[in-house]
Amino acid sequence: MKRMLSGIKPTGQLHLGNYIGALKHFVEYQDEYEMFAFIANLHCITVPQDPKELQTNLRDCVALYLACGLDPKKATIFLQTDVMEHAQLGYIMCCHTYLGELNRMTQFKDKQANGEQNLTGGLYTYPALMAADIVLYDADYVPVGEDQKQHVELTRDVAIRMNNRYGELFRVPEPLIAKVGARIMSLSDPNKKMSKSDESNKGCIYLLDDLKAARKKVMGAVTDSVGKVHYDPVNQPGISNLMQILSSLTNDRPFDEIEAEFEGKGYGDFKRAVADAVCAKLEEIQNRYREILASDLIETTLADGAAKASAVASAKLAKVQKAIGMEIITR
Ligand code: TYM
Repeated sequence: MKRMLSGIKPTGQLHLGNYIGALKHFVEYQDEYEMFAFIANLHCITVPQDPKELQTNLRDCVALYLACGLDPKKATIFLQTDVMEHAQLGYIMCCHTYLGELNRMTQFKDKQANGEQNLTGGLYTYPALMAADIVLYDADYVPVGEDQKQHVELTRDVAIRMNNRYGELFRVPEPLIAKVGARIMSLSDPNKKMSKSDESNKGCIYLLDDLKAARKKVMGAVTDSVGKVHYDPVNQPGISNLMQILSSLTNDRPFDEIEAEFEGKGYGDFKRAVADAVCAKLEEIQNRYREILASDLIETTLADGAAKASAVASAKLAKVQKAIGMEIITR
């Protein structure tokens, strides 16, 4: 069975982009692959966090993994800091990553270009930690949204470099990016990615949003004056984004079928259909989320997940340290 690994960094509440671009696929793939899904809490602290809020977000992230359908009997679900090897291999990967490579990472470059102050060393080197997350488990595939592709490509480069230098250490992973929904855009500005750091809060639908609020956000989504439900991300980015959302939430309905259904109808009808699909999905997730919070599933899932993940990670780290020559007494 091929192995798959991915994670989410809950620096805020999980949103519809995280679900459509990533989480939905973790769930789909868990039957076919050996799935490792983790909560990237080390990555969270690369930007300032309020400790109480972070703790809630981490708990909600596990609960939402489960509520969205990840099954702890099939997938290994764990918290990154429960497996110390991530930090240790992260440092080793960092020592094999060139400054030029880190300088090319668009996420850091964008933050710098936006004039954000007090960016941390952790944020700068975070792609090396992400590389460690992946190679620690010899993942064949990494299902992610479009924005993480560059980081998986860096992982490949560093893994190949280390394999060449020390002998076969890591499997070289491939990013898995969905054809539809890999970059869900903000509802208030369809030229910007939907993200947790949406200041207006109108463009981002959180998985735990109140249903009325979520419906309002969809109904208020920025569209265009063309007046036709047609998939054309360049000229109709708002409508195309809503089509991606609708398709992803309704068993990947083809765009031409959606276009045919709304032929001759107004944007109001179309938005109502999108809002219905969004609210139906949120309601299903939120009902399950409440049941999970009332149970002990989070504790048992994380304990099992940490044990399973640690067994794989510790063997890999030992192999790497030995190959590099970092041990005095070899085991
Ligand atoms: P993060 O937490 O920013 O996002 C989690 C996942 O959600 C996807 N995503 C989106 N997909 C579609 N549309 C959007 N608007 C959207 N916003 C986010 C992301 O592409 C991602 O797949 N560095 C990672 C976390 C991480 C990781 C890893 C992932 C740490 N180590 C190892 C895979 C493997 C991150 O910050 O994702």
